[in-house]
Amino acid sequence: MCGIIGVTGEADAIPLLLGALHQLEYRGYDSAGVAMVVDGSVWRARAAGGTNSVAALAELTAGAPTGHAAAIGHTRWATHGSPTAENAHPHLDCTGRLAIIHNGIIENHAVLRVELEAAGHTITSGTDTEVMVHLVEAEVAGGATLEEATRTMLRRVRGAFSIAVISADEPDTIVAARRSTPLVLGLHDGMALLASDIPALIEHTRQVYALADDELAVLTPGALRVVTLAGEPVEPQQLKITYDLQAAQRGGYEDFMSKEMHEQPQAVADTLLDRRGGHGELVLDEMRLRPGELRDIDKVFIVACGSSYHAAMVAKYAIEHWVKLPVEVDIASEFRYRDPVLNSRTLCVGVSQSGETLDTSEALREAKRLGAKVLTVTNVVDSSMARAADGVLYTRAGPEIGVASTKCHLAQIVALEVLGLYLAQLLGTQPPAAIDEILDAMEVLPSLVTEALGRAGDVDDVAAKLTDARDFFFLGRHVGYPVALEGALKLKEIAYLRAEGYPAGELKHGPIALIEPGAVVVGVATRNPLWEKMLSNIAEVRSRGATVVLLADDGDEESAAEADHVLWVPPTFPLISPVVDVVPMQQLAYRLARLHGHDPDRPRNLAKTVTVE
Ligand code: F6R
Repeated sequence: MCGIIGVTGEADAIPLLLGALHQLEYRGYDSAGVAMVVDGSVWRARAAGGTNSVAALAELTAGAPTGHAAAIGHTRWATHGSPTAENAHPHLDCTGRLAIIHNGIIENHAVLRVELEAAGHTITSGTDTEVMVHLVEAEVAGGATLEEATRTMLRRVRGAFSIAVISADEPDTIVAARRSTPLVLGLHDGMALLASDIPALIEHTRQVYALADDELAVLTPGALRVVTLAGEPVEPQQLKITYDLQAAQRGGYEDFMSKEMHEQPQAVADTLLDRRGGHGELVLDEMRLRPGELRDIDKVFIVACGSSYHAAMVAKYAIEHWVKLPVEVDIASEFRYRDPVLNSRTLCVGVSQSGETLDTSEALREAKRLGAKVLTVTNVVDSSMARAADGVLYTRAGPEIGVASTKCHLAQIVALEVLGLYLAQLLGTQPPAAIDEILDAMEVLPSLVTEALGRAGDVDDVAAKLTDARDFFFLGRHVGYPVALEGALKLKEIAYLRAEGYPAGELKHGPIALIEPGAVVVGVATRNPLWEKMLSNIAEVRSRGATVVLLADDGDEESAAEADHVLWVPPTFPLISPVVDVVPMQQLAYRLARLHGHDPDRPRNLAKTVTVE
């Protein structure tokens, strides 16, 4: 989730760009850069160095030239290519007269790169972004204006993006566009501005406009014009800004947890982007492990902690079913101390949002020592675990600020299931049509997650009835079991309520002794293969006086009949249903935390990245 800023018509652009990049720091970033048109050419500075890169950029730009021409700035959160200065934006074309910044992912960058290189372009970075500026270059060389060239380029790229392009030949102009990722425009006192989000603009103007998908904006000092990709004029929609800078950094949400829950559809969509090759086959770019090595695998271990562990548990059901390989899921802090049996035919997958969790990275080190092939699933490009592994699969959730993991958890389930389908394809354990059908269903998940998020009001109503409850049991079976564990974990960590997560079938072997009037049972009763058995287990707790809240598929009155309160969710294939079913679990924990007066962004005793044993 990169940060974008642009301005034209400001006499001293660099301080404005740096100030805006500073306001965008809350998004997280690993490198930063600026470019502007000065005296008929493009001047550029870039710096890498994690959260120090905006400060480093400030040093690099001290004494930079001034002028009213177009200027753009960027903070990068790496997806394609390491977080180095060479990969930092802005990227230039071969002539050095065009510069681009980009937030998002270009799905067909690899084919475009081959095509451009064959046509004689030199691409200097490992990013998916750079191809765009070379496509613009080719059009400009043929006589197109910056606007025309950008429009043509946008018709060639697939994926999600917001971009801004400048040209030394049109010194006052910035051309900007978006598809799926946000971009806002602003006007103020002879200036025109653009940014990836409102906090970067709010200090300068409240005259802010939204750009819609596949619209292109042409900014000149004090003016902006919006057109469609076909060049038809469009009236931009003015936004009402009623909140202050701090609230704007949270995207207008009360806290980062809410903001990040609402980013889940995008996180899921981005994690799925560009995984399908031209013939429908799965392509995992950073996998690095060769197909031959993976075909030899006879056992999979997945190691992780906390929410990442729950994502791994979901994957166990999926991989065992699709790939027919034994999958062991282990708590990382236990794994390395218990003489696990691994060898060169074992694939050991470490799952970690941060890629820095000590327990998980040490578990992977142990797996490597024992000769296993090691793969990391992480959200942070070039994190320690990404570097140490034989291969990587990135979740693309963007930086997660809230301590309680939400969007990364969903992205992890998706990434691990994509891995499962990749192995199924490689080992031939599922026919291509079956793999296609599951991938098609996965591509619908972002809209199902959006639907689930839209039902927060129903969850709030149920939470309001549970404010006096102190004992919660979260039950599930099959993939509903890890969903139950995640629901219990969320409730513990942000609402500080006692919550046990259990496989519902295990209840009768002990925990049922705790069920009495006053206890709340939250059951995952969406229709997986053990749904009927799940309802029988629910009947057992109901008859002992527990208040029952059930997650049920839309319209499933049979499940609803067993519940005091129902949380409806849109149905999908059982093995991918946790991506949707976790959402009301997060919302329930969130609302109960708020009702009990706790700030969900600052759970007591917890840290975002746990680098101790
Ligand atoms: C729970 C949560 C933690 C993390 C765990 C692992 O909401 O965020 O349980 O999932 O600390 O962290 P990573 O994924 O960074 O290894």
